[in-house]
Amino acid sequence: MSGAQSYPATKILVVDDRKENLYAMEKILSSLGCDIHMAHSGNEALSYTLRHDFALILLDVNMPEMDGFELAEILRSHEDTKQIPIIFVTAINKEDKSVFKGYETGAVDYLFKPVDVDILLSKVKVFLELNKKKQELVAIQSELERSNQSLTEFAQVVSHDLKNPLHAISGLTELMLTKNAGQLDERGQESLRLIASSAERMNRLITDLLAFAQVNADSSACQMVDLSQVICDVISDLRARLEAERGEVTVVGQLPSIEADPTQMYQLFQNLLANGIKYHAQDRPPRIVVRQIEVPSPDICCFTIEDNGIGMAESELESIFTPFTRLSNARGYEGTGLGLATVHNIIKRHQGFIQVTSSLGEGTVFKLALPIRQSM
Ligand SMILES: Nc1ncnc2c1ncn2[C@@H]1O[C@H](COP(=O)(O)OP(=O)(O)OP(=O)(O)O)[C@@H](O)[C@H]1O
Ligand SMILES: [Mg+2]
Repeated sequence: MSGAQSYPATKILVVDDRKENLYAMEKILSSLGCDIHMAHSGNEALSYTLRHDFALILLDVNMPEMDGFELAEILRSHEDTKQIPIIFVTAINKEDKSVFKGYETGAVDYLFKPVDVDILLSKVKVFLELNKKKQELVAIQSELERSNQSLTEFAQVVSHDLKNPLHAISGLTELMLTKNAGQLDERGQESLRLIASSAERMNRLITDLLAFAQVNADSSACQMVDLSQVICDVISDLRARLEAERGEVTVVGQLPSIEADPTQMYQLFQNLLANGIKYHAQDRPPRIVVRQIEVPSPDICCFTIEDNGIGMAESELESIFTPFTRLSNARGYEGTGLGLATVHNIIKRHQGFIQVTSSLGEGTVFKLALPIRQSM
C-alpha cells in the first residue's frame, strides 16, 4: 500500500484516557486524510458512536471506569455499532493471547505498545480499504435495486401501452371478418386474416418478452413448491394441445418439493413440455417423459425431460438458450425463440443447472438439477 492513499470523509474514533496518546495517534493518522475523532473515556466514545458512522475504532484496553473490552462488549451488543471494526491498543505481552479470548471473531485486530508507526498505519489502512469496498458494494447494490425497479416499471408500461392498441387491432379485424365479410372480396378477407395473425404473433411476443425480462426483476420470495403438482397443473393446461396431437406426458418417480418461485417453476415446465409437444415428428405422436433421477446428495433434485420429437443438430445446441434463437428445425413452427432463454434464466436464478442432448430425427433430453433449498 502506498503512503499517498487518502480516505476523505472516512471517520476514525481513537479512544484513550491519556491526552498525550491521543495526540500522538492523531499526528500519525493525519497522513491518511481521515476525519479523526478523539474520546477520553468509554462513555465519551459511546456518545460519539451515537452521532457518527465510524469506519474504525482504535481502542485503548487499559482505561479507568470502563476499560476497552467492556466498551467493545457494549458496542458489539448494539445493532448500529456491532459492525464497526476495532483495533485494541494494549501494553499486554504479545504472547498472552488468552486475554483476547472471545474477540477472535469479527473485525478485530491488536496493536502492542509501544506503538510502531508503520504497523499502526498498515493495520488501519487494511480496515479502511475494507470499509471502502463495503461502501462500494452498498452503492452498487442500491443502484441495482433501483435499475431493477425501473425495469419492472418500464416493462409494465410497455406491456400496457403496446397491448392496448394491439387489442383494438385484433378486435376490429375480428369484427370486420365476422360482420363485414360480405363487402370484401377474397383478397380483402385474406389481408384481414393476415393482420389478425400478425397481431396475435405480436401479442405473444410481448407476453414472452415480459416473462423473459421479469425473471430477474421479480423479487417475490421463494416458498416450498411441490414440483409434481406444478407438472400436473402444466399438463392439465396443455390438455387441448396434447389431445390435438394425440400426445402423452408420463411422469416417472416422484418429484420433490423445493424452495422456489412458484410462478417461475410453472413457466419452466410449461416451456419445456410445450416445446416437446410442438416439435414432434410428423410420423409419430409426441411422447414426453419426465423422469426423476437419484443423486447422491439429498440437497439436490435432479430430473430429465425427454421427448421423441424432431430433435436438434448437435452443432446448433450451444445457442438454444440465447434469446431469440430459433434453429433450422423450427421452420414452419410458430414461436418467438424466448422460451428456453426464459427457462435458462429461471434455472440460473434458482442456482440450478440445465443441460441438453439431442439427436436429429430421434428426440431431445433436457437434464435439470435444482437445489432443494435456496442459499442466500
Ligand atoms: N424439444 C425440442 N425439440 C426440438 N427442437 C427444440 C426443442 N426445444 C427447443 N427446440 C429448438 O430450440 C429453439 C428455441 O426454443 P425456444 O423454446 O426458446 O423458442 P420457440 O419454441 O421457438 O419459441 P417460444 O418463445 O414460443 O418458446 C426452437 O426454435 C427450436 O428450434
Ligand atoms: Mg418454446
